Amino acid sequence: MTVQQTAFLILLLTGTAALAHQGVKNAAVLARMDGMKAMKEHLDVIGETTKGKRPFDQNAISRALKGLDHESHRAIDLFRAPEQDPKSESLPAIWQDYGDFTNRLQKQADLARARPTSPAGLRPLLVDLGTSCKSCHDQYRK
Ligand code: HEC
Repeated sequence: MTVQQTAFLILLLTGTAALAHQGVKNAAVLARMDGMKAMKEHLDVIGETTKGKRPFDQNAISRALKGLDHESHRAIDLFRAPEQDPKSESLPAIWQDYGDFTNRLQKQADLARARPTSPAGLRPLLVDLGTSCKSCHDQYRK
């Protein structure tokens, strides 16, 4: 993936959270949205560092990756019940193949175990993580 494609991927991931959250009535749906929003905030740390908007800080990167690992596991529980809300962007396909959905989250948690020690190591990780987000959204999100 080129730098431009990576930047585009990050752009795709930003922007939705603030809007989608408004007027959600089902607390379980809000909780899983909040979990996704936390994933985005963690990924943003990695994205901004990769793009040079933040200095490379090993501790900040580790915290973001630990957060992604944690949120990926948490999402397996947060999405388990097929909770609905008019504002939800979740597709019913999630609960028709919950095994595939959880596998994706497990694989994402595994990716987040990496601990790159240099800026050069960040880009491929960002691409892998961004691809994980995007491919699940393409399949399971409206
Ligand atoms: C296994 C599938 C899956 C993976 C992996 C995944 N997401 Fe999501 N994401 C969803 C689904 C489904 C929704 C829609 C939730 C809803 O509205 O009920 C969502 C919603 C979101 C939202 C909108 C939340 C809101 O406030 O409405 C953001 C932001 C988001 N995801 C970011 C990410 C990021 C960043 C990653 C990767 C680090 C990621 N997601 C990985 C399935 C996934």
